[in-house]
Amino acid sequence: MATAEQIKTLIRSHFSEESERFFTAALQVAAHEARQGHSALAHEIKSLVDKARQTQKQRLLKFPPELNGLLLTEEPEAHQENLILGAERKERVRRILHEYKQRNTLKEHSLSHRRKILLSGPPGTGKTLTASVLAFELRLPLRTIQVDRLVTKFMGETAAKLRQIFDIIRENPGVYLFDEFDAIGGDRGRDNDVGEMRRVLNSFLQFIEAESSDNLIVAATNNDSLLDKALFRRFDDVIYYALPDAGERQQLMRNLLALFTNKRFPFANAAEEAKGLSHADIDHACRNAMKEAVLSGKKTVELATLKTFLSERNQAYGGR
Ligand SMILES: Nc1ncnc2c1ncn2[C@@H]1O[C@H](COP(=O)(O)OP(=O)(O)O)[C@@H](O)[C@H]1O
Ligand SMILES: [Mg+2]
Repeated sequence: MATAEQIKTLIRSHFSEESERFFTAALQVAAHEARQGHSALAHEIKSLVDKARQTQKQRLLKFPPELNGLLLTEEPEAHQENLILGAERKERVRRILHEYKQRNTLKEHSLSHRRKILLSGPPGTGKTLTASVLAFELRLPLRTIQVDRLVTKFMGETAAKLRQIFDIIRENPGVYLFDEFDAIGGDRGRDNDVGEMRRVLNSFLQFIEAESSDNLIVAATNNDSLLDKALFRRFDDVIYYALPDAGERQQLMRNLLALFTNKRFPFANAAEEAKGLSHADIDHACRNAMKEAVLSGKKTVELATLKTFLSERNQAYGGR
């Protein structure tokens, strides 16, 4: 049986509507019961708590069911140190984090933190990862809007759906990522109605402009040539991503292979082989090399193996 103190905590937190405290107290009761050998009861309490937490989370984010699959919520674990960017880009990410944390101080002086961010650059260079890092470092959920799916699914009603999404943004804390966002901007290759796309883009711009919550809005694109220049003005910051230079390639490999290399590993040599590859390609090749080491019972990655995987990635692009 739970202790008197635990019962009192449960009652108090229930009536003061401190649900996190209530959940913690309930889990303490479960732990207590487990120690007494009542493992079935402990298990039952724990699953009641898990279920209640889940329902509460869903209630917190009220969104129309037709947006299911278009708005994905995650709690990514992406540390800032694992994001390898050139010094200037890194500084910009740091500044976004810093201003968000200091937003109340800024508000006192009628200033606002930078929160509408456009990320532009080639695939696999860390745009999506940056959004995850922002969410993780700020302890916010990452909510990704699948723009291309939105446009395909709702064609004529895209603007109306965007309005619903911006209603959600206003009321629910988070980092909102409009990924592959050029789908709105102007995919003229498909047999889309260009006039319609332009209207959608204009309403998107208006929504962005009018949006005034504290939330971060990140728009990412692989193809900024499709985007209207008018668009750039609506953002507080535009960060251009690029393929990693030699130093970044080396740093990335050092991070990834830390547990699989010794001090003498010729990273500079490996970085040379990785020239022309994106961060995502290098990540992929390093993981393949680690798998190979593990499966052949070795403790470290061999340079030759790593180089093979790197050049395989390179050849996939016709050896650019
Ligand atoms: N700048 C980077 N630093 C570290 N890892 C990266 C970086 N860019 C990409 N990666 C790796 O490649 C994966 C895919 O990258 P992603 O962020 O989705 O690229 P993008 O959105 O620019 O196409 C990431 O999850 C990460 O493992
Ligand atoms: Mg991406």
